[in-house]
Amino acid sequence: MAPVAKALDAQKRADFAAFLAEQSAPYAAPSAHPTPGQLQRGRLLVRVGDESKQLQACANCHGPDGSGERYAAPYLAGQSAVYLANAIREWKAGTRHSGEKQMGPVVLRLDDEDIAALSAYLESLGEASH
Ligand code: HEC
Repeated sequence: MAPVAKALDAQKRADFAAFLAEQSAPYAAPSAHPTPGQLQRGRLLVRVGDESKQLQACANCHGPDGSGERYAAPYLAGQSAVYLANAIREWKAGTRHSGEKQMGPVVLRLDDEDIAALSAYLESLGEASH
């Protein structure tokens, strides 16, 4: 993305953001095949968090069921599970710097099982609504 982003001046970035904000994007075909247990765990983490891990609910920032908080945090519902898991792993590996301040403390508390459950649950929300 960096070369693409650098090629856009401030006006083009604003135009592009406004254009994208108006789109109703189609959901991608689901990539995960979650078990009922994964969906349950993912739902719990998104809605409630996990006190024992000092992990707050994703919904606190990302809106109810990851539907997004305008101007603050992107929607996650219906996003590809592979994309979501990769984004989380990039923060864990220290290779994604955008949003590090907010997402850094969150991803530290997520193990592989939780990442898989969260990603699959969030992806399933797009499938269910279409
Ligand atoms: C303290 C607020 C906060 C909490 C809690 C939080 N997030 Fe985020 N998250 C953000 C912000 C802000 C961004 C945008 C980061 C950026 O600028 O790239 C983000 C971005 C993301 C992205 C990248 C989305 C994309 O389109 O690239 C994923 C995936 C994500 N969060 C997953 C989660 C999950 C899963 C949880 C719960 C376990 C969670 N977040 C909890 C604030 C939060």
